[in-house]
Amino acid sequence: MEREHWGSKLGLILAMAGNAVGLGNFLRFPTQAADNGGGAFMIPYMIAMLVVAIPLMWTEWAMGRYGGAKGHGTTPAIFQLLWRNPVAKYIGSLGLFVPFVVLCYYIYIESWTLGYSFFSLFGMLPHPDPNLPQDQFLKPFSQFLSDYIRPSFTAYLFFLLTVAFNAYILYRGVKGGIEKFAKLAMPTLFILALILMVRVILIETPHGTAVEGLDFLWHPDFSQLSNPKVWLAAAGQVFFTLSLGFGAIITYASYIKKDEDIVASGLSAASLNELAEVILGGSIAIPAAVAFFGVMNAKEVAGSGAFNLAFVSLPAIFSNLPGGDVIGFFWFFLLFFAGATSSVAICMPVVAFLQDEFGFSRKLAVTVTVIFTFLVAQIPIFMPKALDEMDFWAGTFFVVLFALLEVVVFFWFFGGKRAWEEINRGSLFRVPRVYYFIMKYLTPVVLFIILATWTVTTLPKVLVSGDVEAWVARFVMIFILSLQMFLVYLADRRRKNYEG
Ligand code: TRP
Ligand code: TRP
Repeated sequence: MEREHWGSKLGLILAMAGNAVGLGNFLRFPTQAADNGGGAFMIPYMIAMLVVAIPLMWTEWAMGRYGGAKGHGTTPAIFQLLWRNPVAKYIGSLGLFVPFVVLCYYIYIESWTLGYSFFSLFGMLPHPDPNLPQDQFLKPFSQFLSDYIRPSFTAYLFFLLTVAFNAYILYRGVKGGIEKFAKLAMPTLFILALILMVRVILIETPHGTAVEGLDFLWHPDFSQLSNPKVWLAAAGQVFFTLSLGFGAIITYASYIKKDEDIVASGLSAASLNELAEVILGGSIAIPAAVAFFGVMNAKEVAGSGAFNLAFVSLPAIFSNLPGGDVIGFFWFFLLFFAGATSSVAICMPVVAFLQDEFGFSRKLAVTVTVIFTFLVAQIPIFMPKALDEMDFWAGTFFVVLFALLEVVVFFWFFGGKRAWEEINRGSLFRVPRVYYFIMKYLTPVVLFIILATWTVTTLPKVLVSGDVEAWVARFVMIFILSLQMFLVYLADRRRKNYEG
């Protein structure tokens, strides 16, 4: 069966940028930077970008294009092609597990942004008296959020709508669905973010100004640089924001034509993500919070988590501005587009696996994936602690483990020289030679250090949590991984039967 291809270079870059630009750019980045040294955070951030993120990004693009040319868009088959060892395909099934589990809670969070877009637009969010003291003023908003995500009937309705929306785009295919949507969503997203940025910069209250907010976010605290936690946070953020270690980029890259450039396109997509993260993401949420609550209270706001910032503090701030309902709508709709271009990307590995390895038609593959996502999503929807557990294992730990496996398989088992040629084939310009050594030695060592540090510091804390919901999540994740490995086994037998 002929595999699909991206329609144009611009479409590919926008789809890949859509994959990367997500809630993380507008919520996670500013809170991480504020918590980890402000302007000084950018030093470990840039270093992590150069030695971990960019090398991994080229690795994933190259692995995907290589597999796609041989008819395979997911890592069970691609690992097997690169490394002729019977266990390769089972290790590669992590590249299905991670995106699928993350999808099952990401899509629920995404649906909140759609719900809140409607509430804002129709003036249904609280409008408390602005003269109330801060905690009383914020209370109706946090009450609204906790009533909403219980889940309420409305939250469930928006969840169904969001699932249907994702399914619709995927039904239309890579070129007709994902690429077309990215061409609409990405420019819209940048325009909305620009409007919000300009509006936020103009906020001035007796408590502070947005410019003080920028100063607070970017003022470097160099003493933080000797703190390993800051370096880990920076490495974690570059991973998260570029969607690395999920298998999602590999699957998108498998639809690139065999000899088409990946070096320049990869850099362009990553640059768009950084623009959205550092410039736009840094200029909205935190400056607004500082202008409104003052620096001291904004610190508290930033420390109370990304979701509080997005769904409590910002709607509260906007409710006070003239035309605030429309500004709130822009904010949540921006987050919805950012989330939707990412969630279709994390759906794709499972969809592509069913198409490539079992010969399913696109529509059947999408239907099966959506039904399973819907079923598993009930767990994070009804059990908030299960959501945290899934986010830790699939969204944090296995991502780094999987990324380490990717570079090792590509640069050591497949071979450094072949991997290097594979990356540079058809490129507009060649990757600077130092990157050969970075990718082969430095990137795996740094990933190993991150993983080892987490294993020692964080893992014991997570494992002692004996909460029932956490155990449900663990049980379900083990079940999913086993099921996927069994499917990988079946796919392998099926291929051998054909080859005789
Ligand atoms: N990069 C996304 C963000 O910044 C989140 C994300 C991480 C993601 N991994 C992914 C999105 C994989 C799609 C696919 O919010
Ligand atoms: N881990 C994120 C944080 O530290 C929160 C988060 C979890 C998140 N899952 C997410 C953000 C998915 C965006 C999308 O703030």
